Amino acid sequence: MSIFLAGHKGLVGSAILRKLRKKNYKKIITISRKNLDLLDQKAVHSFLKKKKPKVVIIAAAKVGGVYHNNTHGADFIYENLQIQNNLIHGSFKNKVKKVIFLGSSCIYPKKSKQPIKEKYLLTGKLEETNEPYAVAKIAGVKMCEAYNKQYKTKYLSLMPTNTYGPNDNYHTNNSHFFPALIKKAHECKIKKQKIFKVWGSGKPLRELIFVDDIADACIFFMNKNIKDTIINIGTGKDMRIKDYVNFLIKKLKLKVNIKYDNKKPDGVFRKVLDVNLARKYGWKSKISLEKGFDITYKDFEKKYKKNQ
Ligand SMILES: NC(=O)c1ccc[n+]([C@@H]2O[C@H](COP(=O)([O-])OP(=O)(O)OC[C@H]3O[C@@H](n4cnc5c(N)ncnc54)[C@H](OP(=O)(O)O)[C@@H]3O)[C@@H](O)[C@H]2O)c1
Repeated sequence: MSIFLAGHKGLVGSAILRKLRKKNYKKIITISRKNLDLLDQKAVHSFLKKKKPKVVIIAAAKVGGVYHNNTHGADFIYENLQIQNNLIHGSFKNKVKKVIFLGSSCIYPKKSKQPIKEKYLLTGKLEETNEPYAVAKIAGVKMCEAYNKQYKTKYLSLMPTNTYGPNDNYHTNNSHFFPALIKKAHECKIKKQKIFKVWGSGKPLRELIFVDDIADACIFFMNKNIKDTIINIGTGKDMRIKDYVNFLIKKLKLKVNIKYDNKKPDGVFRKVLDVNLARKYGWKSKISLEKGFDITYKDFEKKYKKNQ
């Protein structure tokens, strides 16, 4: 079974690649952005025609944190729509058997009941700070559903919660909350800073899944024949941002005062996925925050040293 993994150098894509290799999949097709720009429809369609994969996993996307989403909405909506349109329609034209489309929990309404079930999609207004990104991802979910309905394809959308792991992005203005906290905690440690500044009030609740668990879910559902077209991937548990800060302070043995910047937007107050559907099919997350963090921090420290 040949698998085209789009976005194999990213956080989620690289975890999927590691997992596919570990599980001994031999025909894995990857290509760098330099050699295939996924925004280019003609190039993507002719690549799929030439390679003829049986499965396409879409882990390529334009992804960013609250600040970048808020200031670069045009890029987020255009690039994500274009990448997924090219890959989903290209897969259809080239008779790909299965498409796994990765989205994110931000596609659900801002004021969703908690935990968030798949059926809450499009039942309310989105969080404004990442609306362009979420609208593009919702279009991807609906595109997969429409192709399944009209053409009897087997395209599946997986909606993972916030993730972290090796190969994450630690850019100051463009990372997600946990990698941003890891970098700040590390800098407090090595620069012997006394103040740990945290974006927002620290009160919002967030769920976090180690990226290898997402990779595991992709491969699990790639091999399953199922009726549902959208499945949440998470741990089903959440903690306050403050709790993650305290976790890092303990892990890195920091002696600091925490300063919450209430002027910065908090984003959605609570976001925890209902993971019962995934469980019904026999999948659940396995890696604890302790274990996931230790693996992630080792990778972070190595790259941080290299960049100094
Ligand atoms: N990070 C999270 O917390 C999280 C949580 C839930 C779901 N997800 C979902 O998982 C998916 C991947 O996210 P991620 O965090 O792994 O993102 P990422 O680390 O930024 O990786 C994205 C990948 O897409 C590639 N890419 C982007 N635009 C491209 C283009 N025009 N042509 C070719 N390649 C292109 C990038 O290539 P380069 O390496 O060349 O830049 C990179 O390999 C997204 O759909 C996201 O919604 C992420």
